[in-house]
Amino acid sequence: MEQKRILVIDDEENMRHMLAVLLEKEGYQVASAADGKTGLEFVNEDLFDIILCDLKMPVMDGMAFLDKFQETQQESTVIVMSAYGTLDTAIEAMKRGAYDYVSKPFKPDEILLTLKKAEERERLRQENRRLQQTMQERYSFAQMIGRSPLMQEVFATIDKVAEYTTTVLITGESGTGKELIAEAIHQKSPRREQPLIKVNCAALPETLLESELFGHEKGAFTGAVVRKQGRFQLAHTGSIFLDEIGEMSPSTQAKILRVLQVSEFEPLGSTSTVKVDARVMAATNKDLSAEIRDGRFREDLYYRLNVVNVRVPSLRERREDIPLLLPHFVEKTNLRLQTQVEGASAAVVRALQRYDWPGNVRELENVIEHAIVMAGGSAIEVEDLPDTFQSFQSRPQYTEVLTDDETLSIKEASRRLEKTLIQRALQKTGGNRTQAAKILEISHPALLYKIKSYGLDHSSQD
Ligand SMILES: Nc1ncnc2c1ncn2[C@@H]1O[C@H](COP(=O)(O)OP(=O)(O)OP(=O)(O)O)[C@@H](O)[C@H]1O
Ligand SMILES: [Mg+2]
Repeated sequence: MEQKRILVIDDEENMRHMLAVLLEKEGYQVASAADGKTGLEFVNEDLFDIILCDLKMPVMDGMAFLDKFQETQQESTVIVMSAYGTLDTAIEAMKRGAYDYVSKPFKPDEILLTLKKAEERERLRQENRRLQQTMQERYSFAQMIGRSPLMQEVFATIDKVAEYTTTVLITGESGTGKELIAEAIHQKSPRREQPLIKVNCAALPETLLESELFGHEKGAFTGAVVRKQGRFQLAHTGSIFLDEIGEMSPSTQAKILRVLQVSEFEPLGSTSTVKVDARVMAATNKDLSAEIRDGRFREDLYYRLNVVNVRVPSLRERREDIPLLLPHFVEKTNLRLQTQVEGASAAVVRALQRYDWPGNVRELENVIEHAIVMAGGSAIEVEDLPDTFQSFQSRPQYTEVLTDDETLSIKEASRRLEKTLIQRALQKTGGNRTQAAKILEISHPALLYKIKSYGLDHSSQD
């Protein structure tokens, strides 16, 4: 192991000698100085892991040394020692950046223990920094965070598909980051210098949407007082992102299909054809195959759009991303709100990981903003989270069904797990068995049977 370097600053010759002998015996590399000023000269020339500094000294005392040391911006851990130790001086020294305090006289074990503690803290600090860096390098991708295998897969797909003009269909629940993915694909594509035009297909009624997409001639419809360029034209040589594509009317679907097939269209009220070269990306949170089955979405359009499908996993499918998303959003929100919240307690992370996140990442972002506003101190505590999360502290985890369990029977364990899941589903749906069966992905009769056999049939009903 690498030798740790310590600087001892003390005006007493005996003390310097005693510490040097003791610490060298423990494997430290020791340098010593007789006052703060000399100490500072050492510090300016060399890097020390730890500085042991007396408080009462001639020339420059310990407090003055601490102040000057702060200015150097070095990261050595400073421990102060003093025979005149009162709590006040200790607190004052800590305020000026000292990490710990030992009062003289001390036993060798005392000082060694303090040093070990300081080293442990330093180790943790470095580990933390390293993790944070790895996280930023390895698990972030064009402003997206995700270390889960599912997100890593999404990132890999984005990487592959970005360089081609292939049409991409991005599917996933609301708030999973579909728009962010479209942006990432555009940013990583050779078209990145060209515009990325976004259109929300759910926001406008049919005629307005079509005029928005394809433009119109003057007088094409009531209100079309001037000629207008469509979004497809604006996206020429760039990309166009059709959001909420599942909401488009049949007529608009037909026109989009034509753009995809022959790269041309006619603006509303115009007889001339416009050629366009735009990379098309579309997104939906609907199940398009169900829409096709029910006749609301054209199958041929679906195949044209779905050349490559990026399925964005819901947040509950990748709970392991929550501990990474949390600091990301804390930082983002701190910047926006000018707050200084540093992080969250482990209990908060657990509570967040137990929740099902119907609103996915967007909901998480909002919950973190709520918590930051509510947080009294520097770290978010469970009490700062919205009410929904308060009960999560006591709710047992799936695996807890198995604790203090002598039996290793898989059959018995599965029964208990099944019972817990059914209880949770019933609790969540307010006792609605039809909905609970859906969530549990079992048939309604199967659920009724299980409810009966587990003795769960008290008051809940459809
Ligand atoms: N992996 C991620 N890392 C960091 N931030 C994310 C991630 N995914 C989503 N976000 C953030 O979550 C919010 C919602 O993302 P976005 O708007 O892309 O979702 P969406 O799937 O388009 O939602 P909707 O279906 O409701 O339109 C945004 O603020 C986005 O920046
Ligand atoms: Mg969106």
